[in-house]
Amino acid sequence: MEPLEILKNEHGLIRQFLENLEEALKKLEIEQRPPREFFDQAIRFVKMFPEGYHHHKEELVMFVQVAQKHAGEFDGEIEALRHQHELARNYISELGLALNGYEEGAQVQTDKVIENTAAYVALMRNHIHKEDHKFFPMVGEALTPEEMDALMVEFDKASEKAGPYAFEEAHKIVVDMGSTLVHM
Ligand SMILES: [Fe+2]
Ligand SMILES: [Fe+2]
Repeated sequence: MEPLEILKNEHGLIRQFLENLEEALKKLEIEQRPPREFFDQAIRFVKMFPEGYHHHKEELVMFVQVAQKHAGEFDGEIEALRHQHELARNYISELGLALNGYEEGAQVQTDKVIENTAAYVALMRNHIHKEDHKFFPMVGEALTPEEMDALMVEFDKASEKAGPYAFEEAHKIVVDMGSTLVHM
């Protein structure tokens, strides 16, 4: 697979994760409270996959390489995407801080769980759409085959570091989240 296809493929798993969060929000709307475990699983997934792996490859590998080879050309786009990664991190850390109160049924923390989950979903949907349909095609046109190969070498290193089961483990968490919702 090519580097951009790999990232798009990873977006597929992240979208599946977002669907779980949307399902949880629907339940909260009708006063059904997913167990705390669901949100713990969500945070585990985010730390492991989007933050610890996918965004890492985008920010520390692709953005850096694209910026080096094509000075200036992509700065605005990269800054906007980086900013969204940062916002996503903030929503998730706010979500984590609200979970003790949520578990006890406190209204303020329940609202925070809802607000931050909804904000995360909206942000990530927009972000992934922008990458898939705007940024990646731009990168695909700008990089030479040699530059694309160099990107792939770095992606392979990141996969090696994450271990052979990183994708499967992340996928399993998404599946487990789905069954947590079904069995509540
Ligand atoms: Fe991204
Ligand atoms: Fe992405």
